[in-house]
Amino acid sequence: MNEQLLKSFSEQINKEYFSAYLYLAMSNWLNDRGLKGAAKWTYVQYQEELAHAQNLFHYLQYRDVSAGFQAIADPSGNWDNELAVFQHILAHEKMVTDSISKLASLALKADDHAAYIFLQWYVTEQVEEEGNATDIIQKLTLAGDNGSALLAIDSQLGTRVFAAPVVPGLPAGL
Ligand SMILES: [Fe+2]
Repeated sequence: MNEQLLKSFSEQINKEYFSAYLYLAMSNWLNDRGLKGAAKWTYVQYQEELAHAQNLFHYLQYRDVSAGFQAIADPSGNWDNELAVFQHILAHEKMVTDSISKLASLALKADDHAAYIFLQWYVTEQVEEEGNATDIIQKLTLAGDNGSALLAIDSQLGTRVFAAPVVPGLPAGL
């Protein structure tokens, strides 16, 4: 694998672990405020982010190259309210989308079509990530200060369950 491409893959792994950590911090913040459904939702998202990182890591091993490691940044944050948490999520996911797009472009530039195809799953996944956050922001905005509407949204968010993503291009049994 092209050296620059490998470096960017490694950086993406770090970003996915940071994302996982950020969602974990958000889950705590929400849980502390009694928003148990949103706390569950962000915890499930944390699990998804771990899977994103793990699958990138496995892909590099499958290609017989090794990821490089960097420190994971502190994700601690304080947010004004639940809406601000989900606005932060949307902004963060847009940043990840940009990073994945650049990584895919780099794979093409290096004529690494296998890596480019592998990354397509991540490109599609980001559309879903941004869509989910946008959807929740719209609902929270509609609810405004209406406590019963906010509680209804929270119990809906609490129904989310983790399902391990199946990423094409990896060996079976991972
Ligand atoms: Fe991710």
